[in-house]
Amino acid sequence: MITLGIETSCDETSAAIVENGKNILSAKIFSQVDIHKRFGGVVPEVASRNHALKIRPVVEEVINNANISINDIDLIGVTNSPGLIGALFVGVSFAKGLSYSLKKPLIPVNHLAAHILSGEIENEELTPPYMALVISGGHTHLFNVSKSYSFTLISKTIDDALGETFDKVSKTLGFGYPGGPEIEKKASFGDETKIDYPIPMKNELNFSFSGLKTSVINSYNLEKYTKEDISASFQKTAVDTVIHKIRLASKIQKFSKLVVAGGVACNGYLRRRLQNELKNIKVFFPSKGLCTDNGIMVAYTAHKMFNKRIFMDFSSKALDRDESIKLF
Ligand code: KG4
Ligand code: ZN
Repeated sequence: MITLGIETSCDETSAAIVENGKNILSAKIFSQVDIHKRFGGVVPEVASRNHALKIRPVVEEVINNANISINDIDLIGVTNSPGLIGALFVGVSFAKGLSYSLKKPLIPVNHLAAHILSGEIENEELTPPYMALVISGGHTHLFNVSKSYSFTLISKTIDDALGETFDKVSKTLGFGYPGGPEIEKKASFGDETKIDYPIPMKNELNFSFSGLKTSVINSYNLEKYTKEDISASFQKTAVDTVIHKIRLASKIQKFSKLVVAGGVACNGYLRRRLQNELKNIKVFFPSKGLCTDNGIMVAYTAHKMFNKRIFMDFSSKALDRDESIKLF
């Protein structure tokens, strides 16, 4: 079965052709990072317009590179929420048009579900039930994923997402966008013990990063520390926080498998520490190319939902109201 996956929820126009769920025939990500860089972050209207320009060439490219004809597509999956509404509209409208003209089924894919399931693509061992932490530019959400793929939200950030915090710290320090890779690079030259930033809400499962962000800005304004030391100390505290919350969650509800996905899961320092320090939990990471937004994870999730007749219920408790806008 050949699945086309389409992802346009933020600033990456991406598509992939995947055979039988996991066999990747082709994949393409057109990143708009260079376009948004000069604004210091993603501008929604600019993102939508660039998706509109790129969606057709990107889909044509993956079809050509997979050496298939458009009529060979059996199934289409598209991210329908959460994300930037105008950006989502481009992918969903395109996918709907294609589905209608090819007379092939169309599966709406939740972006968080796709990030979570991306961990399964290269890890046979990762089968539900498991815990899933999505750490990206828009989310810091911990889910329990049941055997039948029902998602229960365990905790989330009450203010800034982790990726957003990396981006804002990077902006303060005068580095580029996106901030995560820049901070990680600079942190490798710094002393992580130099500044002792606080972990807020230690007894609560929910995350909060805005206090850490403010502490970083304050320490920068003191003009006492190097940018490398600030980056390293910030990154250490961010990862300390993640480890602390996972440990807290595991005390309340025992689990042995955890998948960590989303853009921040690209961070090598975070990967090393989670794998070394979470002793009784097997931690899975998708490869770095699957952590940031991509069409492969959408195709894989759509195929799984269609084949196993899984209805992933993200509608009720699992998501905030503003995130559950439905384009289907
Ligand atoms: O999943 P993603 O591509 O898009 C969203 O759905 O948000 O995540 C993007 C986020 C950005 O905030 C970026 O700074 C962060 O992931 N990120 C990183 C790293 N690479 C990307 N954060 C920390 N360390 C990294 N190496
Ligand atoms: Zn994402």
